[in-house]
Amino acid sequence: MDFKQEITALIEKKLDEKYGKKIEGIYSFIEQPPNPEMGDYAFPCFRLAKELRMGPPMIAKALSEGMEAGFLDRAEQNGGYLNFFIKKEYYAKTVIESALDAGMKYGSSVEGEGKTICLDYSSVNIAKPFHLGHLYTTVIGNSLKRIFDFLGYKTVSINHLGDWGTQFGKLICAFKKWSSEEKLSENPMQELVAIYVRFHDEAEKDPALEDEARVWNKRIEDGDEEAMSIYNMFKEITLKEVKRIYDMLGITFDSYLGEAFFFKQTGRVVEELKEKGIMKVDDGASIVDLEEYGMPPCLILRSDGATLYATRDLAAALYRKDTYDFYKCIYVTAYQQNLHFKQWFKVIELMGYEWAEGLVHTPYGMVSMEDGAMSTRKGHVIYLEDVFKASVAKAKQIMEEKSPDLADMDKIAQDVGLGAVVFSALSNNRIKDMVFSWDRALNFDGETGPYVQYTHARCCSAISKADGDLPQPDYAVLSDPASQALISLLEKLPAVIAEAANKYEPSMITRHTVDIAKAFNKFYFDNRIMDDDLSVRAARVALTKCARNAIAIGLDLIGVKAPEKM
Ligand code: ARG
Repeated sequence: MDFKQEITALIEKKLDEKYGKKIEGIYSFIEQPPNPEMGDYAFPCFRLAKELRMGPPMIAKALSEGMEAGFLDRAEQNGGYLNFFIKKEYYAKTVIESALDAGMKYGSSVEGEGKTICLDYSSVNIAKPFHLGHLYTTVIGNSLKRIFDFLGYKTVSINHLGDWGTQFGKLICAFKKWSSEEKLSENPMQELVAIYVRFHDEAEKDPALEDEARVWNKRIEDGDEEAMSIYNMFKEITLKEVKRIYDMLGITFDSYLGEAFFFKQTGRVVEELKEKGIMKVDDGASIVDLEEYGMPPCLILRSDGATLYATRDLAAALYRKDTYDFYKCIYVTAYQQNLHFKQWFKVIELMGYEWAEGLVHTPYGMVSMEDGAMSTRKGHVIYLEDVFKASVAKAKQIMEEKSPDLADMDKIAQDVGLGAVVFSALSNNRIKDMVFSWDRALNFDGETGPYVQYTHARCCSAISKADGDLPQPDYAVLSDPASQALISLLEKLPAVIAEAANKYEPSMITRHTVDIAKAFNKFYFDNRIMDDDLSVRAARVALTKCARNAIAIGLDLIGVKAPEKM
């Protein structure tokens, strides 16, 4: 039952009876007040003031008179608002029954049926470490994929590999001079970082190294055998490293086509831009002038003919539209790339493609260390794998102290340790900068992943103790503030999920899941689930099941596991 719909009908009926008026848009004006004392729903009457030529409080008063319906406890004027109080028993029954009916699909929808969404995230750079800076793109992208799947879209996850650029010539040059396959096999990423750093140090003294690197670049471009075999080795090493992390997190990609692949398709972009008369030559370089749109020009070809990051993104977008006919293509990167995406999205639009509207950049904030920023060049790196490993180790240590007899402890420690890091990364608005601290990421108290997971396990255990052959629930017993607060949060879950998708903001789900966990714990302490009156017990078990499902759904949508025991 959609209470908003029912309330709309009541208001419309009253407006017709009293004033003979039909007014559009009532449904969309109805709000859910933040505070239960102001009712479950509220209608802001200033929306009608102009039409009715009356003050909002007068309108609210007039509409409240004789407002009656089976589901309604009362409708009250409060200032310019008309506040609706749903009968508590009725509210409990409706929300719980619809949630239990939907089970693990509660809050899902079919809005995305027939539509494809491409998600470009986590995009690894070959031969560079997969570090803390990649945490956000990886977990935000993964969560968005899960959310859009839940809403019925077909999703395509894409790892747009950074496997093209002048750094590869430098790396091959450095590898030939100072490294070997043996050294690489010992500590692959550390070795790659070390020789890259060394290249930059030595090239400062000996600029001839840069020339050598350029020769290697040319050889990669020409597909020279030796160059390609070293380059492919770098690529394999890197992918093997990151796949370990993806496996831990249960992340898979549908495509790993990256910049090297799209480099080969940039010819088409250049031709098309020329044909459409959008591109011009400026100081030897080919650009698309974007002055009219308040942006610096989008560089397509450098004066030496080399393509750029944007050129390859343009090619990739055309390819993806052809291949997947996407409804949206979402790019998850740090906000430092805002201008880049704005520029080339504009170029797609100027090329006359209406689907430019479906290109979405989802930026997130900077991650830095408490003791200064990370820089690959200087070799200051926090490996993502180390963060996860430390968290899992800490989870295990806590469990060994608190629940030494737990079966399957390693598996659960893994779920909890990884969950803690992912949860904390998805707790704040994505655009906020964040200073990484080991203490905070590994904190298991307060509003954290482990707290929510623990609450889920508590629900599971309460259900397994109290569930059984129970009579019809007595929903009237769920009229206390703690039960009602939990029910109200459950009712909002579908709207929160939809909103998180609209705003590309998984943290809305994270926070709502925390709220549900807190509300459940309050309910749990205020009420006895194992009540002797079995119809009371049935009502509380039903509510507990809804809470358990809602937490599991919320965690699943942000890519965190919900163990049944902890
Ligand atoms: N590899 C790039 C980086 O680390 C991110 C790629 C994002 N995707 C894209 N299609 N540009 O900055």
